[in-house]
Amino acid sequence: MNVSMTNGTLNYLVKLADEHKQDKVFVMQYQDKASAYYEGEISSFFKEGRDYEIVEKVGEVQSSGFVVMNNIPVSDEGRPVFEDRFKKRIGQVENMEGFQAIRILRPKKGNTYVVFTQWRNEQDFEDWKNSKEFEQAHQNSGPQHKQKPSFIDGKPFITKYHMVDPKE
Ligand code: HEM
Repeated sequence: MNVSMTNGTLNYLVKLADEHKQDKVFVMQYQDKASAYYEGEISSFFKEGRDYEIVEKVGEVQSSGFVVMNNIPVSDEGRPVFEDRFKKRIGQVENMEGFQAIRILRPKKGNTYVVFTQWRNEQDFEDWKNSKEFEQAHQNSGPQHKQKPSFIDGKPFITKYHMVDPKE
């Protein structure tokens, strides 16, 4: 399964999503940034998009909620180890209050994987981030981990969005 994301003005992206009602296109925004997210069979859905393959997925992405993406640069030789860690993860996150969806996304271009998570609201995400489950999931990686895992090839960065529900 493919995922494609693109940036643009909110108006443009809402219109775009509206023109593709038969496809799964979601619009999200945070402060002055807006993005659209597509998931489905079509590869390279957006003309100027960032394209991914889904390595792992749990839950369905919904049109309301709060999205947090961890963008992790991974070395070429580290890819199998990185993907394997996510395939073998204990999978606690899906049992957390307010959890809606997770996607592990392999980039079709470049080296930056995306760990996409969707929550009912921002507080649910913050609660998870401060939980022992987050700590456990990251005992061999993560923000507090002193030694960066060898497969990480750069500085991970976080992006956050509120879903824009077109019906509202
Ligand atoms: C910036 C430091 C971080 C790094 C280097 C990192 C890396 C990793 C790695 C390698 C794993 C696989 C488990 C393992 O360690 O073996 C993992 C699990 C995970 N990470 Fe991170 N992570 C970081 C912070 C975050 C943040 C801020 C989020 C928020 C979206 C996040 C979302 C997740 C999720 C959802 C899982 C799966 C947890 C589970 O199944 O319970 N990570 N992370």
